[in-house]
Amino acid sequence: MSISEEEREREAQAQLPVDVWRGIAVDEDEEEMTASLTVLLRKRSLRLLGSLMGPERRGLVIGTILVVLHSLAGLAIPVIIGKAIDDGIRPALLHHKSLRTLFVIVGIFVVVEIVESTTLGGFLAYIGKVGEKVLFDLRTRVFDHFQKLSIAFYEKYTTGRIMSRLGNDIDAISDLFLTGLIDLPWGVLSLIGIVIILLVLDLQLALVTLAVFPVLFLLTVWFRNRSEVLYRRVREAVTLVYIQFTETLGGVRAVHAFRREPRNQEIFDDIDARYRDANMDTIHIQALYGPGSSLLGEIAQFAVLLFGGYRVLHGQMKLGVLVTFILFVGRLFQPVQELSQVYNIFQAAAAALEKLSGLLDEKPSVPEPAPDDAVRRDSWPGRITFDHVTFGYRDRNILTDLTLDVPAGQTVALVGPTGAGKSTTARLVARFYDPNSGAITIDGVDLRRLPSDELRRCIVMVTQESFLFSGTVADNIAFGRPTASREEIVEAARIVGAAPFIEALPDGFDTDIRKRGGRLSAGQRQLVALARAFLADPAVIIFDEATSSIDMPSERLIQDALELVLRDRTAFIIAHRLATVEIADRVLVIDDGAVLEDGSPEQLMASGGSWARLHRAWEESLA
Ligand SMILES: Nc1ncnc2c1ncn2[C@@H]1O[C@H](COP(=O)(O)OP(=O)(O)OP(=O)(O)O)[C@@H](O)[C@H]1O
Ligand SMILES: [Mg+2]
Repeated sequence: MSISEEEREREAQAQLPVDVWRGIAVDEDEEEMTASLTVLLRKRSLRLLGSLMGPERRGLVIGTILVVLHSLAGLAIPVIIGKAIDDGIRPALLHHKSLRTLFVIVGIFVVVEIVESTTLGGFLAYIGKVGEKVLFDLRTRVFDHFQKLSIAFYEKYTTGRIMSRLGNDIDAISDLFLTGLIDLPWGVLSLIGIVIILLVLDLQLALVTLAVFPVLFLLTVWFRNRSEVLYRRVREAVTLVYIQFTETLGGVRAVHAFRREPRNQEIFDDIDARYRDANMDTIHIQALYGPGSSLLGEIAQFAVLLFGGYRVLHGQMKLGVLVTFILFVGRLFQPVQELSQVYNIFQAAAAALEKLSGLLDEKPSVPEPAPDDAVRRDSWPGRITFDHVTFGYRDRNILTDLTLDVPAGQTVALVGPTGAGKSTTARLVARFYDPNSGAITIDGVDLRRLPSDELRRCIVMVTQESFLFSGTVADNIAFGRPTASREEIVEAARIVGAAPFIEALPDGFDTDIRKRGGRLSAGQRQLVALARAFLADPAVIIFDEATSSIDMPSERLIQDALELVLRDRTAFIIAHRLATVEIADRVLVIDDGAVLEDGSPEQLMASGGSWARLHRAWEESLA
């Protein structure tokens, strides 16, 4: 980028309200470099491209042959027309020869025309198919990869960026197949072919024709450089549009609750205007470049007519050759225009490939164990230990050197103030993250050695925001153990106390939760999640505020249900409601990532520590 452009960009950003950019700053790797195509096409992009195209080699070779045939046929047509005039019409006109030669040439012309159009049709069908296969493969890989990535990834990669990957980046690669792959070989072959044919046909006239080329060249270089900058700005702007869209829609309840619509609208308008302006800038340069290069083409045609006519009149050139020239000059500027567009398409596809390959290169921060290191067992009693565990999400440690032993079958309540590290501890048991040092084991086996399906079978975490998938209520419970029978599903719902409300739904267990009448309240969703966890029947169960939304009158019911759910398994319960904590065998008071008190509820009461104080205050509030 030249200095002035850099300044312009800085200016453009400076005009925006500061917090627009602070609030939805494009992440660093989202900002495209000013690099050229060659730099953008890094090794990993090429590797991705190779692995995508590899299986389609045959289709690509056939496609290339077809496009070469199409281009050659296109090049032959003006030559054949010239020949028809000079060798078919002229002799018949001047020397009263038969029209046989003309018929032969026209016959050839028809064949070449047929070749030109059928090869194009074949190419489009072929490459279309190859392109769809490649895109299918790419989308499958990206989605599969998204699912494999760990929770930590989603904390840094926003939904908007994910949508942008799946949306406009894949579109950019689709454009490559739809237009880029034909325009490039066709453009290059036509351009080179036409120049060579013109030079061979008539050197002098060719030189006159090509005199406009330096100007066209300069115009094209200008357009290419400008469009590189402008299209990058368009891509950046559209990503911002995606990000703002998904953030607003994702938080639509908060948006309404806090009357944030005007502010969001303001931010969106800003981004949207930036997107519009970026697009408008590209339209401006296209409006200059397209007609500009056409004008040059017309000037060249005008020169050909004038100088060519002069040469024909002086017998230095045949009339048919002049016609061939005029036809070629008319066709000469189209490949140049197409090639200048191709550059943008390749540039966008290269940027998309770079981002997608970067994404596909992301390693899950919670990796699967190596096959020979993996441990599978028929049953896990469920003893959990923390062995000198230190963990922090980023630079700051949340847990420092935590050591803990929870025997199989014990119900442990984690209590402590907000931000103490309770959820963090729970997430580590569920292996959403791995400790920075130390180890967490289940029955003496490091969690890192359990393949994910094994891990999910023996450790289940239920959180406050119990997410339900589209489908019926029964589907959502069965999701805990897909092989469960209908009776088992209903039984699970009954045990956690969810059956009464489910049976009252329009279609009972078969109510679609995304349809009208199937919408569940927060507490009902938590009950479904409890049933799901119960049905999964894991050795270790973790409840992080999993009963927080279930109403107070049924508290006794919840206690009973919980006791049933937790029987015979290891359990970690985080709850602000002390009644829930009372069913625990053991209470851990956590603050600042350290265990301050550890014992049975009775022991802690007797010791008179912070738990005892908390508990007494609670009892007084009840009295
Ligand atoms: N995903 C995260 N990325 C970075 N820091 C985090 C993340 N989650 C939690 N923290 C930080 O870790 C600390 C402990 O948080 P944690 O969620 O474990 O607290 P908690 O005890 O569960 O609190 P609460 O009772 O409010 O749920 C907090 O200081 C929080 O800021
Ligand atoms: Mg928490």
